[in-house]
Amino acid sequence: MSASIPIPASLNTTSVSLSRSPPNNPMAALSISQSPTQTTIHERFRQDSLSFSIRQPKVLRPVDKDDIRLLLVENISSEAVNAFKAQGFQVDHFTKAWSEDELVERIGQYHGIGIRSKTKITQRVLKAASKLVVIGCFCIGTNQVDLKTAARAGIPVFNSPFSNSRSVAELVMCEIIALSRQLFDRSRELKSGTWNKVSKGCWEVRGKTLGIVGYGHIGSQLSVLAESFGIRVLFYDVVNIMPLGSARQLPTLKDLLSESDYVTLHVPELPETINLIGAEQLAQMKKGSYLLNNARGKVVDIPALISALKDGHLAGAALDVYPSEPGANGAPFDDQLNSWSSALRSLPNVILTPHIGGSTEEAQRMIGEEVSSALTRYLNLGTTFGSVNFPEVDLRAIDVDQRNQIRVCHVHNNQPGVLRQVNDILSPYNVEKQYSDSKGDIAYLMADISDVSKQDIEKLQDLITHTSANILTRLLA
Ligand SMILES: NC(=O)c1ccc[n+]([C@@H]2O[C@H](COP(=O)([O-])OP(=O)(O)OC[C@H]3O[C@@H](n4cnc5c(N)ncnc54)[C@H](O)[C@@H]3O)[C@@H](O)[C@H]2O)c1
Repeated sequence: MSASIPIPASLNTTSVSLSRSPPNNPMAALSISQSPTQTTIHERFRQDSLSFSIRQPKVLRPVDKDDIRLLLVENISSEAVNAFKAQGFQVDHFTKAWSEDELVERIGQYHGIGIRSKTKITQRVLKAASKLVVIGCFCIGTNQVDLKTAARAGIPVFNSPFSNSRSVAELVMCEIIALSRQLFDRSRELKSGTWNKVSKGCWEVRGKTLGIVGYGHIGSQLSVLAESFGIRVLFYDVVNIMPLGSARQLPTLKDLLSESDYVTLHVPELPETINLIGAEQLAQMKKGSYLLNNARGKVVDIPALISALKDGHLAGAALDVYPSEPGANGAPFDDQLNSWSSALRSLPNVILTPHIGGSTEEAQRMIGEEVSSALTRYLNLGTTFGSVNFPEVDLRAIDVDQRNQIRVCHVHNNQPGVLRQVNDILSPYNVEKQYSDSKGDIAYLMADISDVSKQDIEKLQDLITHTSANILTRLLA
């Protein structure tokens, strides 16, 4: 292949184009030419990039004859629906969640399903899903899917854990200012007819210190936003992380709590993060500081927080997540759900929101794009990167000119001797590339083999499917 790489040397006048040269004369193809017309540098770059010939990846498709049919429930975003249709998949799109019985009755016709958090993919549903090869959770969590049974049936599950990081970070910025200005209390008073213009205990955020606990996707985004408000940022994380901007990592949680005007939590729920902030840690916080929890409800000991607010040690708090949360909109948030609910609700300068940190239209759109592209990549290319229940395997694309190459995607039980059996079957062909990995009981092999005739494809599918550890074998061509 010969590549021509034109290099714009100056605006509008002269260009240097470099073609790939024979090895014995590296300068032979270097030529200088005058540009006859006046063009901007942007136009020149565009033209040049169009003239640059690159290797095109081949678009693969499953070799079995069935058209791919997808079931999307719970009003999944139109971006996702359109992306699937653009791939030529048949899409049945419903706004409501489906019950287990509805799914059992109809899931047998579908190769893929997209759900949010209300549709449950149980063992019974998976048993009825005879054609299902992939599940997309268009949300953060995957608790609604029986992940182990899905993996044992050869079905990877994809989700979108980080698409809403920016939305959470922005909400935290809003809460920091709202707490500093007692905004919600003033608003509530005026809405109930009382004018109450106060400046005591109300502060600018400029020059104050924000302590971020957990400097991952959300914590690090927040760090950047906070600095642009003139806030000094400190963070504590169990991992050493390169700080963004002028932020500074502190060695202990205690150091962070004692230096921060605002402490905001962005850690996952793990055994070691449950009650990470209890009475002892609250006492280590500065008097008059604020606590914000948009991470997981169990990270804060809420009765201890109520005491710290009641005795005036803390000046306010914002909570978006709770140890127990109602299952549906309109449901009560009362003492039956969490014994301390009414005590918490009655406190001044406490912002309570119903787990809306990541609930924005932008986040939903990004979730739609991310999960639909993960499902499409798996269906068309076999890639399991980002799957929550499967070994993560990928192969470099097959080039468009490699006509007789096919891809073998073989999900099998993780046991000795499988690769020998499969490679025996593949041995008459040239294995161009191959990769396999395992996770628990499940292993996944991808292999690209060349010089495969149309007649061979069926035979190969049949032979690999009948190996002793086979769970699911798909051939893509
Ligand atoms: N309120 C919402 O709507 C909403 C939305 C999205 C995410 N979340 C929650 O926010 C939290 C953070 O999300 P993320 O995407 O930034 O996660 P992430 O995995 O990107 O980052 C978490 C960070 O916490 C650190 N960490 C783990 N244990 C720690 C400990 N004991 N002490 C200090 N640091 C610790 C990790 O090293 C990591 O850097 C998660 O609990 C997530 O579920 C809430």
